Amino acid sequence: MENYTEAVSTGSPGAPRFVTGDGCWLFDRNGRRYFDGTAGSGAISLGHQHPAVCEAVVKQLERLTHTGCKLQSDVRERLVERIGELSPYQRCAVLFTVIGTEAVEASLKVARAYTGRRRVVAFRHAFHGKSAGAIGATWRPEFRRYSSFAADDWFIADFPDSDQGDEAVDEALRQLDQLLDDAAGDPPAAVIMEPVQITEGVEIPEARFLEGVIRAARRVGALAIFDEIYTGFGRCGTLFYSDRLAETPDLTLVGKSLGNGFPISLVLGAPEVINALPSGIQTSTYSGFPPACAAAEAVTNVMVAERLWESSATLGRDLLDGLRSLDEEHSFIVRPRGAGLALAFDCLDEAGRPSAARATRFVEEAVARGVLLFRGGPLGAAVKLVTPMLMDAEEHDFLQGTLIETAAAVAAWRG
Ligand SMILES: Cc1ncc(COP(=O)(O)O)c(C=O)c1O
Repeated sequence: MENYTEAVSTGSPGAPRFVTGDGCWLFDRNGRRYFDGTAGSGAISLGHQHPAVCEAVVKQLERLTHTGCKLQSDVRERLVERIGELSPYQRCAVLFTVIGTEAVEASLKVARAYTGRRRVVAFRHAFHGKSAGAIGATWRPEFRRYSSFAADDWFIADFPDSDQGDEAVDEALRQLDQLLDDAAGDPPAAVIMEPVQITEGVEIPEARFLEGVIRAARRVGALAIFDEIYTGFGRCGTLFYSDRLAETPDLTLVGKSLGNGFPISLVLGAPEVINALPSGIQTSTYSGFPPACAAAEAVTNVMVAERLWESSATLGRDLLDGLRSLDEEHSFIVRPRGAGLALAFDCLDEAGRPSAARATRFVEEAVARGVLLFRGGPLGAAVKLVTPMLMDAEEHDFLQGTLIETAAAVAAWRG
């Protein structure tokens, strides 16, 4: 075995290898349970091994596993109809992709086809996945250097953080208008944004900012793309994040929660926009993979029947109250924030500076007590909490109690 190694990338230091899952829990090989406060990188909406999802996938496996993307399947057609009914679009075209970053790339191709333009505007602290095109839209220079896009294909615009207030929103919108005016000779095809920047620490802009960005894109004939791979499908308290806005983006991307752990992502938009991309320019062998469509259909049924986006909002408010209490009690915890079930806080060192070491320590102490969390944020000083949307009272109390104990242990830690 020593000749072979796995290239490991772990966001939760100290976490073991897991062998089974059940609801909010992952179990290691000794049977020890861990509360999944990462929700499988945000993809586990209904909990691990949700019976309705497992049953739908098993049935599908027995009927039809694969057609390839160019041949239709009945389950895929049913999903198109179901998602179409729920989508922000009166008439909705659905473009199938497999993972989030592929949906991003597909949406950019649609924007380039629709507008006949090339350039793209993304935002400070954005994250849109790591394929060689989409990685160019991340603000991180160490990621962008692997992008296949030319440097002048991308502009990075300002994105106001959660607590920056009205003036910052006005200023960011003013700067965006300026940037678009300056680019008038070679205007962008698309403005792409996450309505909440979850990967880089859960930054939640005001609705007014998001609506302003959509209007600004329209003003210059660019498509406004909402990357709802993370925020979409109930995670943030509405089915789509844009459901709460006065403006609808031209394209909406969903993934993660939609499949509850099965790889499926979609680009949604009006047919006249999506169908601007000539047939055959966006395919991949496994897009519309029948078992993943069956999972997404089951997720959709449960989510609509149980109005799970409302549970996200209620549970999220409650967990945020818990983080606010931690903030009051411990000086190293600041800026508790949350949008439904995407929550975070920042950690400070003794001198009041953002501390990645403290955030790491928090994650390690939480893992040792049986709660999995991720670190994030531009400085790595944020601790993120992203849970499944179904949680009983005992699970809720375990999570809250463990966060309280963990915070006390980290407060006593002297680096
Ligand atoms: C907003 C957003 N877009 C795209 C992606 C990429 O998704 P995937 O990892 O499935 O390619 C992510 C992943 O975290 C994301 O948060």
